[in-house]
Amino acid sequence: MHINILRSQTNTHQAYTLPEGESTLLSALVHIKATTDATLTFTVGCRASVCGTCSVRVNGREELACAYKVKDGDMVEPLHYHPVLRDLKVDKNKAKETLLNSTAWLQSFTQAALTTKDEKHTETQTDCILCDSCYSACPVYAVNPDFLGPFALTRAYRYSTDKREGDTKAIIDNIQNNGVWDCTLCGECTAVCPKGIDPKMDITMLRGMSIQEGYTDPTFATQSFGTPDFGFDPNAGF
Ligand code: SF4
Ligand code: SF4
Ligand code: FES
Repeated sequence: MHINILRSQTNTHQAYTLPEGESTLLSALVHIKATTDATLTFTVGCRASVCGTCSVRVNGREELACAYKVKDGDMVEPLHYHPVLRDLKVDKNKAKETLLNSTAWLQSFTQAALTTKDEKHTETQTDCILCDSCYSACPVYAVNPDFLGPFALTRAYRYSTDKREGDTKAIIDNIQNNGVWDCTLCGECTAVCPKGIDPKMDITMLRGMSIQEGYTDPTFATQSFGTPDFGFDPNAGF
């Protein structure tokens, strides 16, 4: 079995031979590094789909290397929209800045007892492991590197619906620019999330909350609906 890995120094895919047998991509990378090419660089943490460290793209789709079952001919590349430090290792600092910019935390803490039902309400969003797969899959970053993006907006939704949040509007105010209205609702983020999180739906909910706070879609006012065809010239007079 062969897999092909994009090497940063040559910017070409290098083919590596692997022993037959089922293996995760991460095990394959460790095997290559130990037996064939010690210069191959990648990141690894928990090996159990918990830390979010090992995300890469395989055949153009984001995957956790520790969960993905490697197949013959796989093309392995680093995440999109992240500076490549070396091979599959990327710098995730800029992506994490979106959490800071979205102010996705409790703004004004108020005492409130959370019930099991309350915890269930945001349980899925809380499961985010910050793997950046959704960030890499989001097409908006190709045109707007300042977009807050899927995982930061999912976190903004998680805290803006928390019963202990005493100032929901503060979060909603902070996600208007480069935020909820810049999303195309394409659903790529939802498709690649290894934790079953649905950032597209969370962004849709945040749009509804934004409208309740008095905001409107800024692109709506500038949209052209064309010239209506009345079947006659309304300015011609009678
Ligand atoms: S749904 Fe929105 S946030 Fe998600 S990938 Fe598409 S544009 Fe990006
Ligand atoms: S929302 Fe999902 S894909 Fe995005 S960073 Fe969190 S766990 Fe990863
Ligand atoms: S090594 Fe932690 S998620 Fe893969």
